[in-house]
Amino acid sequence: MRIDVLTLFPDMLRPMLGESILGRAAENGLIDVRLHDIRDYTLNKHHNTDDYPFGGGAGMVMYAQPICDAVRAADPDHTAHRIYLSPRGRTLDQKIVEELGREEHLLLLCGHYEGVDQRALDLCIDEEMSIGDYVLTGGELGALVLIDAVSRMVPGVLGSAESGEDESFTTGLLEYPQYTRPAVYQGMAVPEVLLGGNHADIEAWRREQSLEITMRRRPELLDTAPLTDADRAILARLRAAENAIASLGIPAERLLLREADAFEKRWFNTFVPEEKRKAAKKQCFSGRRHVGYLWQAFSMGFIDSEETLPEGCFSGANLLYLPEEKILLRVSGEPAVSGSAVLCDEAMTYTRVSTGRKALGPYLAKI
Ligand SMILES: C[S@@+](CC[C@H](N)C(=O)[O-])C[C@H]1O[C@@H](n2cnc3c(N)ncnc32)[C@H](O)[C@@H]1O
Repeated sequence: MRIDVLTLFPDMLRPMLGESILGRAAENGLIDVRLHDIRDYTLNKHHNTDDYPFGGGAGMVMYAQPICDAVRAADPDHTAHRIYLSPRGRTLDQKIVEELGREEHLLLLCGHYEGVDQRALDLCIDEEMSIGDYVLTGGELGALVLIDAVSRMVPGVLGSAESGEDESFTTGLLEYPQYTRPAVYQGMAVPEVLLGGNHADIEAWRREQSLEITMRRRPELLDTAPLTDADRAILARLRAAENAIASLGIPAERLLLREADAFEKRWFNTFVPEEKRKAAKKQCFSGRRHVGYLWQAFSMGFIDSEETLPEGCFSGANLLYLPEEKILLRVSGEPAVSGSAVLCDEAMTYTRVSTGRKALGPYLAKI
C-alpha cells in the first residue's frame, strides 16, 4: 500500500515510521509511505505557507496553492483516496480502518494552525477524517494514527505473533484480559483456566470476558456485534448479576467461575462445620473444584444457616461472583465485617455469619 503524506513537518513523522512494525513493513516493501513537505511547493519569496483568515479571527490559515500543487505532484492521476485529517471529519474507527485497508493508495493532508483554506479541500480532497472529538495542534499525529491502524490491515504487516484477528473491535467486542509470565505477580495469580491448556475452556473464558468488558465499558457495541445465542445467554446472566449487585447497594464486582475456583480449599473448611465435613466431602468432592464443592455443600444442606447477618455487614463486600446462575461475594476486611464470613441464601437473605476468622469467606447466592 502506498501512502503519501503532505505536511509542513515531515520530521515529526519519520521516527515513528522507521520503527517497530511500521519500520519493518516499510523495509519489506509492504507499505510505502512518502512524505511531502508542503513548504517545497510555495511560490512566494519567503516560502510562507499561511496567512490571516479573511473575515478576521484568531490564528492563521494554510494557503490553498501549495497544498493543491503538492497534492497534484504526489497524486497526478488521482489514484489515491485523498484524506484531510480534521476534527470535522468522519471519526476513524475499526470499520473505517478496514475500509481504508482495502485501498491501494492513500493521500493524507495534515493541517496546522487554524486549518486549511476551504478551496484546497474542495478542489483536492475526497474526505475529511477525524481521529477523535478533540483538537490537535496539527494533523501529523492523526496521520500517524491512521497509518498505523491501516497498515495492520495490509497482509503480511502483522507477523503471526501479532495476529490481529481477535483484537478489540475486530470481533465487534472489546478484548479479553491478557497475561504473561510470571503466573503469580505481587500475589496476583493468572486465572487458572489460562494455565490449564484446555482450549475450549480458554475460548469460553475469553469470550465471556470480552462480553463482560464490552457490556461494562462500551455497551453500545453490543448492538452491532455479531452475537450467538450462547453470547446472549451469557449477557442476560451478566445483566441479571448487575441488577442483583445494584439492588444490594454495595460496591461489588463479579468474579468468574474459574477465578473463583482458584480459591483455596480452606474456603470449604470455613463454611462447612467440622462435624459435617466428612459427609459433605463424600457427597461433594466428585470431580468438582472448590467453589463447586462449596456450592454443592451449600445446596445439599451441609452448611448451617441458623445465624443472621448483623445490619451493615455488607458494607465490606467487594467481590461478587456469578457461576451460571449463582453469585458469590467475598468480604474485603472492612472493619464492619473483619473476621466475619457470610453465606447468602437464594433470596439473598443472610443465612450464616462466622466471626473471629482471619480469612474472610465467600457468599453464595442464587439469582
Ligand atoms: C488546531 S487544528 C485546527 C482546528 C480547526 N480550526 C477546527 O476547529 O476544526 C490544526 C490541524 O490539526 C489537525 N487536527 C486537529 N484535531 C484533529 C482531529 N481530532 N483529528 C484529525 N486531525 C486533527 C487538522 O489537520 C487541523 O487542520
